[in-house]
Amino acid sequence: MGKSKIYSKIIFSKTPQNDLEEWIKGYDTKKIYLATEEKVDRLWDRLINELVEKHAIRKVVLPSGEENKKLESVSMLWEFLSNNEADRKSLLINIGGGMLTDLAGFAASTFKRGIDFVNVPTTLLSQVDASVGGKTGINFNGLKNEIGTFREPVAVLIHTGFLQTIDNDNFLSGFAEMIKHGLIHDTSHLEELKSFDLNHIEYDRLKEIIEHSVDVKAYFVSHDPTEQNIRKALNFGHTAGHAFESLAMEQGRPVLHGYAVVWGMITELYLSVKNTGFSETECNELIRWLIGIYGKFDISEQDYERLFMLMTHDKKNESGRINFTLLEKPGQMKINQHCTREMIYDALKYYRGL
Ligand SMILES: NC(=O)c1ccc[n+]([C@@H]2O[C@H](COP(=O)([O-])OP(=O)(O)OC[C@H]3O[C@@H](n4cnc5c(N)ncnc54)[C@H](O)[C@@H]3O)[C@@H](O)[C@H]2O)c1
Ligand SMILES: [Zn+2]
Repeated sequence: MGKSKIYSKIIFSKTPQNDLEEWIKGYDTKKIYLATEEKVDRLWDRLINELVEKHAIRKVVLPSGEENKKLESVSMLWEFLSNNEADRKSLLINIGGGMLTDLAGFAASTFKRGIDFVNVPTTLLSQVDASVGGKTGINFNGLKNEIGTFREPVAVLIHTGFLQTIDNDNFLSGFAEMIKHGLIHDTSHLEELKSFDLNHIEYDRLKEIIEHSVDVKAYFVSHDPTEQNIRKALNFGHTAGHAFESLAMEQGRPVLHGYAVVWGMITELYLSVKNTGFSETECNELIRWLIGIYGKFDISEQDYERLFMLMTHDKKNESGRINFTLLEKPGQMKINQHCTREMIYDALKYYRGL
């Protein structure tokens, strides 16, 4: 795959302190700030505080969790920057998962009309997905990522060592996005994911496959930064997946994003068999593999209508038709596939019967 044309420098780092130190050399030492969140600050206390103390960097620790990806946290960060005399030449270092990098990226992209920021993603999901593509944002008015900007960090520093402290569910949630990358664009990536031993994680191997996954994301982002056409490939599994995610939330049994994406991918693989000629045998094999890892989120017949409604609310849809990204075969996707209510009910029925 060709090198991406994205603006951010993506650095795969074995020694994040050293690489960050190299990076911050270009900035006035008095104008460097660091944002992280409570859990990451606690778990990675030594790494963060060594850096902060050595360079007299001002640090702010925001509350963890998706529920804190909100305006109040942005406001805290703006206040921190403002009270500490940050100016347009400042640099903000964001260390955390996708919640923190989205939130702090948004704060940086709006403070004084935008200051430089470096993202140091600490979860698998944020390393393979949120780190690349320049989308920043917060949840607002009950809606996910309702407010945000497109602005790329000047650098993204990916250190797989951070993943040694994440729990299995969050690991698998990120792994789901990697599977998506394999399915939409890169069969050799898909194969390496299939053979990856999830019970005994080999970190050197993991680093390699993360690089391949980031390449896929960067490919789509660089060819279509503002999602006019082929970047929609990245929505594979997400139209149905977001509906599962919202339903789960409504029913008081929330699930992690990547899990919902897997159940969405299963539904959309079935739609691919029906609409874009995806092989049924291959579909069955993939579904067996996915359910083996992620299990299944049980739905009842009464949930079909709600799931369908949730899909129509998805922002990717125009005039009542539901727009999917489907697959023709592994590694080959097709955007703008419109499916009817009947087809979707059929797919949900299939999913329920698995
Ligand atoms: N900008 C984008 O293109 C993009 C893409 C995908 C997802 N996202 C956003 O990313 C967010 C989800 O990202 P996420 O899954 O990283 O969520 P998250 O940042 O909330 O992290 C998940 C959990 O892991 C903890 N954590 C973080 N790093 C850890 C570490 N090294 N060890 C142990 N625990 C750690 C967090 O405190 C949290 O409890 C969502 O808000 C989503 O909208 C953005
Ligand atoms: Zn996703």
